[in-house]
Amino acid sequence: MLKVVELFAGIGAQAQALKEANIEHEIVAISEIDKYALRVYEALHGKPNNLGNIKEIDLLPTADLWTYSFPCTDISLAGQMKGFDRDSETGSSLLWEVERLINNAAINGNLPKYLLMENVKNLVSKRFIGLFNEWKSFLESHGYRNYYQVLNAKDYGIPQNRERVFMVSSLDTKNYIFPTKIKLENKLNDYLEKHVSEKYFLSERLIRNLSDTNDRNGFIRGNRFRLHDEKSEYAYTISTCPGSRATDNFIMVPQKTKQGYAFAHVGDGIYTNRTHQKRGVVQKNMIPTLKTSPNDIGVVVDKDYLISIRRLTPRECWRLMGWNENRIDVALSTGVSDTQLYKMAGNSIVVTVLRRLFICI
Ligand SMILES: C[S@@+](CC[C@H](N)C(=O)[O-])C[C@H]1O[C@@H](n2cnc3c(N)ncnc32)[C@H](O)[C@@H]1O
Repeated sequence: MLKVVELFAGIGAQAQALKEANIEHEIVAISEIDKYALRVYEALHGKPNNLGNIKEIDLLPTADLWTYSFPCTDISLAGQMKGFDRDSETGSSLLWEVERLINNAAINGNLPKYLLMENVKNLVSKRFIGLFNEWKSFLESHGYRNYYQVLNAKDYGIPQNRERVFMVSSLDTKNYIFPTKIKLENKLNDYLEKHVSEKYFLSERLIRNLSDTNDRNGFIRGNRFRLHDEKSEYAYTISTCPGSRATDNFIMVPQKTKQGYAFAHVGDGIYTNRTHQKRGVVQKNMIPTLKTSPNDIGVVVDKDYLISIRRLTPRECWRLMGWNENRIDVALSTGVSDTQLYKMAGNSIVVTVLRRLFICI
């Protein structure tokens, strides 16, 4: 029986992945402070032994595995990148609380055999690699062998372009080998609800802005064209009233490339905010990385035979984080708000990726 501590537990993607990997385990403790995440955690996995704020924990119960997907807000490119220096007091600097707990466990002679870290890819960028190396050296000083790799959810069966760095640290002498990639068979469309409320669709005003060649409100600019034929790269005519015709079958989204734009078709995921400053604004049959708010990404859909754009529903976000219908029903039945459900999904780890990682341990 694998005894597990989930630090920064969130909704417990870790616990869910262990279950799905059929690994006999017991979650002996978690550390989490968000009351909504805790409500959903309890509904999904039963009442946990929550030790609360990591800063106030001295010793963790004996366990074989600790997971620590510490807050990424100050490391992520999407944030202000305040970093995680030891005394910075940033959310991401909570990593050093894990250092303290490891030192305390070592004094008591009960270091866990395995550690699993997860964070955004930027953790191993030039900007942060120095601190990351310091962290690895610290773990090595306690006898751990570290194995890290950036994994993308799209390489493990989920149509989400989500790159995250994972590090397995082990006291074992056996090498850890990361799961091999699999071909992506599923498309974003397979994860979409058929009937969704009108509130998820971009407003008429925003849709109209798609055809505006001036950059309004930093929102996407572009035109909806009719193609000569399906395979043609070039537009037949530029509509003066884009989006009004059943024949419009793609949306041109500006982006920061030499070409200056990309085409989005039904079933593609797109960025909808400040696209002219970004690359890769259209993801073919895939969604860009889900964040804690759904507001800057959308999916291109058919609406009453017209091409349109809408936000993802919370259920769709959870599906794209690898959760199955039954589990999502349980999470939704807790009655937490959509805002919280989006936040939990964006903060979490794709269960499918974790399951494969655990199987390799
Ligand atoms: C990146 S998320 C991890 C999500 C988790 N892996 C999951 O499966 O949902 C980081 C989590 O750390 C929690 N957190 C932030 N400060 C904390 C603290 N001082 N003590 C414990 N947890 C904290 C946040 O509430 C958040 O749920």
